[in-house]
Amino acid sequence: MGKILVTGGTGFIGSHTCVALINAGYQVVVMDNLCNSKVEAIARIEMITGRHIRFYRTDMRDKHGVCQIFEDNKIDAVIHFAGWKAVGESVEKPLDYYENNLGGTLTLLEVMRQFQCPILIFSSSATVYGSHNPVPYQEDMPTSATNPYGYTKVMIEQILRDLCVAQHRFSAVALRYFNPIGAHESGLLGENPNGIPNNLVPYVAQVATGKLDCLRVFGNDYDTPDGTGVRDYIHVMDLAVGHVAALAYAVNHTGFEAINLGTGKGSSVLDVVRAYERASGRKIPIKVVERRAGDIATSYADPTKAKDLLGWETTYDLDKMCADSWKFTLQNPRGL
Ligand code: NAD
Ligand code: UFG
Repeated sequence: MGKILVTGGTGFIGSHTCVALINAGYQVVVMDNLCNSKVEAIARIEMITGRHIRFYRTDMRDKHGVCQIFEDNKIDAVIHFAGWKAVGESVEKPLDYYENNLGGTLTLLEVMRQFQCPILIFSSSATVYGSHNPVPYQEDMPTSATNPYGYTKVMIEQILRDLCVAQHRFSAVALRYFNPIGAHESGLLGENPNGIPNNLVPYVAQVATGKLDCLRVFGNDYDTPDGTGVRDYIHVMDLAVGHVAALAYAVNHTGFEAINLGTGKGSSVLDVVRAYERASGRKIPIKVVERRAGDIATSYADPTKAKDLLGWETTYDLDKMCADSWKFTLQNPRGL
């Protein structure tokens, strides 16, 4: 086991996972069309690891381009991050989302079959637990979605389940991420959203720098300890190491597994604001506004299965996540 194709490898989670893979001794080949990331991420990964990375600027829907990567390299396994992830945009442009996320994944799987590559680790999401399951979320709970983005994750999980039935030697692990935040502790890699961020921590980071005036807290009347939404925030480097553990598992097993990657601990919006104030030494002004459509009160993982099957547990707390996010923000005022 040596050479891993990382789709979406210049993106937020993919770039950090490249670092973890190289640290664990794997060779990494990255494919990304750079629609939501910068090629500079490759230079940053190389700076952190001191290793060269082969990069292909390829769209995963371009079958010929994807085949070329498999012809040039003997790929042992694929870690598949590439996809679009903006919930609101997916509601406005459902066909684009299905075409990119589902179409791209089908093309990738077809090429993997052609080249007899038997292992896929897929970026799924806690969003597949929908809005009716009780917390903590466990992998055997029914899945559903409330928007097209979420449905692409539910559907791709099903495609992988079906494929594992049809191809007995195939191994697929769907990792259900909770809320990834933070950055590599060097400050060289981090989250770099285009425009005004939708997600809490990138937004708070821009309030801390003064780029945005104040955080709008989406509701303080939820049934939670302080009334604000509770989520399971996970350090992106813990998440990255989870992929290395999933890969080791997949090498020794066939079939489909869905596995949560979370800490098992919930934090409220106000907990995050306070942790970010501690990390940055700056005041984060807030204003409570209406609930955001589609939000749920509470989401956190039962991380037992990841511990049992992968031997993986998180190591970083919310203060460290905010400190690393802040370091990246200060060191990269215009992003990567
Ligand atoms: P990201 O946007 O930073 O990374 C995704 C990468 O995929 C980008 O670099 C983008 O350029 C690339 N890409 C998109 N479409 C492509 C295509 N057709 N061909 C080639 N490259 C393409 O996002 P991220 O936060 O790193 O998320 C990675 C994966 O994890 C996504 O599948 C996302 O849905 C999933 N996920 C993310 C979160 C989160 O909160 N960040 C939570 C759950 C699941
Ligand atoms: N929030 C605010 N103000 C903001 C942004 C967010 O109060 O400006 C609150 C939200 O209401 C929620 C919490 O902060 O209570 C976290 O919101 P995020 O947008 O950061 O994250 P979500 O849990 O809504 O969703 C994220 C990804 C989804 C993914 C899900 C589970 O955006 O794609 O985590 O992994 F499916």
